Amino acid sequence: MELTYFGHSCVLLKGKKTVLIDPFAPDAEFPQNPDIVAVTHGHADHMGAAVELNRPTVAINEVAKYLKSKGVPAEGMNLGGTIILEGVTFRMVQAVHSSWIEEAGIGCNGGGAAGFVIGMDGKQIYHAGDTALFSDMNLIGELCHPDIALLPIGGRFTMGPDEAMIAARYIGAPLVIPIHYNTWPVIRQDPEKFRTALERTTDIRVKILAPGETATI
Ligand code: NI
Ligand code: MN
Repeated sequence: MELTYFGHSCVLLKGKKTVLIDPFAPDAEFPQNPDIVAVTHGHADHMGAAVELNRPTVAINEVAKYLKSKGVPAEGMNLGGTIILEGVTFRMVQAVHSSWIEEAGIGCNGGGAAGFVIGMDGKQIYHAGDTALFSDMNLIGELCHPDIALLPIGGRFTMGPDEAMIAARYIGAPLVIPIHYNTWPVIRQDPEKFRTALERTTDIRVKILAPGETATI
């Protein structure tokens, strides 16, 4: 499977299907015709171009309802649930964050925020979305045994590097890819410092991807 990071929280998984997670990326161009889109929550820097893409889209009920009202073939689900679309498994897991859908200056509650554990081609990929550190990340590790964890490290709106180090240990995935940093000055972080600190203290490896970069996983 190939994993491409487009910056911020936007990631494409390319296996037997293409799955685009959180289609918002100011620094790189993501494909416009993925088989499936997954949206972690209603904030504009995650829902992004989900309406324009107009692809089968997995999201929490409130976001899915909004997308459906725009004509998007969205599939609603909620925390703790699993959906299988075109042979790809999406497990929706907790994220400690808020959600708000805004359009032309008017907004509505987007339900909650979520993360996904996506199963494809025998691999489990955890995308944490936007979240604070919470100890039930242990359960995500115990239940899903992710092979890869995509974790926010930007701080201010999500975990920063210190919390993400603990999150990585709770989840137990052998490989961590940092996301949601350096998009703007307010979430500036040095991912090399995060990598060095986590690799020095654990067996977990950290892969830093530049926007537009692809890793084979
Ligand atoms: Ni957010
Ligand atoms: Mn965000």
